[in-house]
Amino acid sequence: MKKPNRAIAYFSRSGNTRSSAGILAERLSVSAVYPITEVRERRGFRGFIMNGFDALRGKAVNIKTTFPEAAGEIEQLILMTPVWAGHVTPAINGFLERTDLTGTQVILITVQSDPEFKGIEKAVSLVEKRIIKQKGVLKQSAAMHGSAPGKKADRDHLAAEIIRICPLLNLE
Ligand SMILES: Cc1cc2nc3c(=O)[nH]c(=O)nc-3n(C[C@H](O)[C@H](O)[C@H](O)COP(=O)(O)O)c2cc1C
Repeated sequence: MKKPNRAIAYFSRSGNTRSSAGILAERLSVSAVYPITEVRERRGFRGFIMNGFDALRGKAVNIKTTFPEAAGEIEQLILMTPVWAGHVTPAINGFLERTDLTGTQVILITVQSDPEFKGIEKAVSLVEKRIIKQKGVLKQSAAMHGSAPGKKADRDHLAAEIIRICPLLNLE
């Protein structure tokens, strides 16, 4: 079966989602990998609190990325984000607000410290609404374990998580 035209776009604060995106790209032979960064990054304890608060209230922040404003030819977009305060990141909300997803299927991968992924369904359903608003379709989603806030998990751990979720997402 012909493979869909795929791209990966991700936001990462402390590197777990970035490494996971790299591992997945290698595994699926995807060469179109787009980092998403915040125009204004907040660090430190105050930044941690404010980032969590903004994620919780569904804020969308200004982002930088080379991903096109219209996904166009990209049939399948694998979108990867850490979980902040039980929600996806304001950078991913910002990305979804500026990207026309007409004709694109989105596969969402969330990365977090809670190995039980409690309450992730709510975060996913909010993302799905944003995707629909941008004329895309959320095909599937999966949650993976990263690390405690501010820490970096071993590459082996992230690779094992990617291997675990690929069949759940029918990704090969
Ligand atoms: C502001 C903030 C809030 C977070 N809130 C949660 C949370 O609600 N649930 C959870 O499981 N992990 C939470 N985490 C942990 C991250 O999801 C986890 O460390 C993830 O691996 C980070 O990915 P990254 O290294 O790509 O930034 C939070 C981290 C930060 C910085």
